[in-house]
Amino acid sequence: MIVYFNGQFIPKENVGISPDDRGFLFADGVYEVIRVYHGQLFQADRHWQRLARSLGELRMDGLDLEIFGQIAGRLLDENHLDNSDALIYIQITRGAAPRQHAFPGQETPVTIYAAASPFTPSPEKMERGVKIILMPDIRWARCDIKTVALLPNVLAYQQARDGGAEEAVFVRDGAITEGTHSNFAAVFAGQLVTYPQSHYILAGITRAVVLDLCRELNIPANEFPIFEKDLPHADEMMLLSTASEITPVAQVDHWQVGNGKPGPITQKLQQAFRKLVD
Ligand SMILES: Cc1ncc(COP(=O)(O)O)c(C=O)c1O
Repeated sequence: MIVYFNGQFIPKENVGISPDDRGFLFADGVYEVIRVYHGQLFQADRHWQRLARSLGELRMDGLDLEIFGQIAGRLLDENHLDNSDALIYIQITRGAAPRQHAFPGQETPVTIYAAASPFTPSPEKMERGVKIILMPDIRWARCDIKTVALLPNVLAYQQARDGGAEEAVFVRDGAITEGTHSNFAAVFAGQLVTYPQSHYILAGITRAVVLDLCRELNIPANEFPIFEKDLPHADEMMLLSTASEITPVAQVDHWQVGNGKPGPITQKLQQAFRKLVD
């Protein structure tokens, strides 16, 4: 596999990252994951904007983000993925410097890594729906920054997998925020509800696309906290993410959502999403 590392396209096994890299020492870095359908980047501008924002929040401004479109294109090319479904992964850290909490000097270059890998979606999960578990949201209060500091997400997701579930969805102050690597939405009496864009969730690109589709399809949508106690009254629930697109939730912990099948609004949004991708 050919990857991008600090200005060069090289075999992945030749990448050498310093043990002094602040990504390794402090999780001092950000990342993006972009979906590629048939060789085309999906919603690339939104991803670049989010990456720029994440970098800005870490006070790592000044990178020319234009290069990432070109890097992604070349990675698809080099790895013969120009007509394939793939994922582009990009990570930028504050670079390598002797370990101390304070930022290193301006002369320290950032570390940039990017890779393209083939991606095979899982249509049966999108058709049948998945099980989720609910977990306390023990993350920090800047979940809007897409940092590589993902330990609470990793621990919660492992608990989901251990319990035979596809995702762990966080609950903060009684409200459902988002999943470990997805946003969450539910349908109450024909209205789609999802946690407000704030410091407590990542501004998901799929979530933004779904809100656009709701406007187009005249589906009422409301960015409002859903309280855990109200969840059993939801008619439909879905997970939204770059990799899993719109995945219906069929089961929460030990109880079934609705009749356990994807509901009409979920299906309508899935169809519209497919049309947009095609
Ligand atoms: C915590 C979290 N929330 C939401 C999402 C969904 O975002 P997107 O639709 O941009 O993939 C992700 C994606 O990885 C995530 O990690």
